[in-house]
Amino acid sequence: MSIRIHILVGTMTGTAQLVAQELELAWDDGETTVATLLMDKLDASVFDQPGVFLVCTSTYGQGDVPDNAKALYEDLKAKRPDLSRVRYGVFGLGDRTYAETFNFGGKKFDELLTELGAQRIGERVQHDASSGTLPEEVAAQWGEGWLALAK
Ligand SMILES: Cc1cc2nc3c(=O)[nH]c(=O)nc-3n(C[C@H](O)[C@H](O)[C@H](O)COP(=O)(O)O)c2cc1C
Repeated sequence: MSIRIHILVGTMTGTAQLVAQELELAWDDGETTVATLLMDKLDASVFDQPGVFLVCTSTYGQGDVPDNAKALYEDLKAKRPDLSRVRYGVFGLGDRTYAETFNFGGKKFDELLTELGAQRIGERVQHDASSGTLPEEVAAQWGEGWLALAK
């Protein structure tokens, strides 16, 4: 089945973008088409497009979404659009060294999208930078199963 996936990237130093590039390479085969968008300058209307969404975001500050994700996150919170037709997944990046706020960036998007009626596909991923695994490798392995669920 053909499917369109939008990967929305929240990042400070580019790691989440590497993850998105890896997933795009793995998924985009003509039947599955992938569009990767940095969250910079996006607003809630990005979810009006047909297709499924993958929020791929790290965590900064005290459990905050990265700077480039703030406008989108705040716009969703302010406008509270009905997202009941939206299906999404979350690939979160974080570091367990920040025990109190581990992976809160992905968690915050997940909770907000659920509140707005969107349906999550699969479990939320919580990559841990202190685990010694590379997030793009974890993503490539995880991505196959997620794509199958999304289809
Ligand atoms: C200043 C700073 C603050 C961070 N705060 C958190 C945090 O509160 N929770 C967490 O899980 N990870 C935190 N991290 C870890 C990053 O989310 C993690 O290294 C991630 O892989 C970075 O991805 P990016 O390059 O896409 O931004 C922090 C990292 C830095 C440098």
